Amino acid sequence: MSYDQEVMKHERGPMNRTLTIEDRERDLLGSRLQTVNTPEGLEHLKNKVIFGDLFKCVDLLPDHFVDLLIIDPPYNLDKIYNGNSFRKMQPNEYTAWVESWMVKLVRTVKPSGSIYVCCDWQSSFAIYEALSKYFIVKNRITWEREKGRGSRTNWKNCSEDIWYAVASKEATFHPDRVMTKRKVLAPYRHANGAPKDWNETEAGNYRLTHPSNLWTDITVPFWSMPENTDHPAQKPEKLIAKLILASSNPSDLVFDPFLGSGTTAVVAKKLGRMYCGIEIDHEYCLLAEKRLELASRSSAIQGYDGETFWERNSLGEQRRLSRGSAVGRDAAKHTQESLL
Ligand SMILES: C[S@@+](CC[C@H](N)C(=O)[O-])C[C@H]1O[C@@H](n2cnc3c(N)ncnc32)[C@H](O)[C@@H]1O
Repeated sequence: MSYDQEVMKHERGPMNRTLTIEDRERDLLGSRLQTVNTPEGLEHLKNKVIFGDLFKCVDLLPDHFVDLLIIDPPYNLDKIYNGNSFRKMQPNEYTAWVESWMVKLVRTVKPSGSIYVCCDWQSSFAIYEALSKYFIVKNRITWEREKGRGSRTNWKNCSEDIWYAVASKEATFHPDRVMTKRKVLAPYRHANGAPKDWNETEAGNYRLTHPSNLWTDITVPFWSMPENTDHPAQKPEKLIAKLILASSNPSDLVFDPFLGSGTTAVVAKKLGRMYCGIEIDHEYCLLAEKRLELASRSSAIQGYDGETFWERNSLGEQRRLSRGSAVGRDAAKHTQESLL
């Protein structure tokens, strides 16, 4: 960690909710981690964070144990993960690197399994090339990543991709579980006065819209959100929740071989799925365990009310509509706290 990062770490404002590991938590959280040095059966992998290198671990995992594979690898960028540098490669080198782990993961996926792989525009073609060798590529989701630096010489990077593939036509897909709730700006009515494709409630007018492959309702974790950590590439829980709800069923196993701060495992747990993940950095493994512990106390996911996803900047509506439902109350409280 650089001097500036070290100083910043100790100078967080009072409203900063970034999760960190305290020294007194280390032993307990560390004792929950799994290491894999010999072939492992499923019983030792369910709901486990594996501390290790996926290149050494994956061959020791069982065949076909994964219902949903979510992969968020280092993108082809210079990036430091808690002191470990990932160096930008030539495009063909990066493609070969992607291929080197993709080929190992294929065996772990069930014939009915689904696969999502996150990337940015520079890594997207490499992911497609490797993914399409082994799976049926169905789509590419693009999501608006509204956090990012502007540039004087280029368009600001404001989006990321997620490739969606399946192992066979039997894969699970539930679009009805990932509907988005949007405020109605043009409240058209039928001749009899009834709302046309939207709902009129005391809390406001909204419409449920079908999920598309363009997501503009995602907020990247930032310091005032309770899910935020210092991981430099942490994915939003809301984003991962959409993947898990659409492409798995309760009790299915969700596997993430580049687990980072644990987002996939945490969301899987909150949504009643089993999880397994691999992460090479011990500090990130501890963060994942801490978040998993917190997930056993609250299953709230910011922006999701237990039934539908809310568009951004809809806190007022979420609070008003949450009065009736326990899940909604929990979600609204979570959102409210994060915005204080
Ligand atoms: C893009 S990040 C994943 C972030 C994660 N989705 C989250 O929400 O926190 C990629 C992660 O892969 C880890 N990683 C890199 N090489 C690895 C390897 N060979 N085995 C396991 N993990 C690795 C890095 O330490 C980093 O935390």
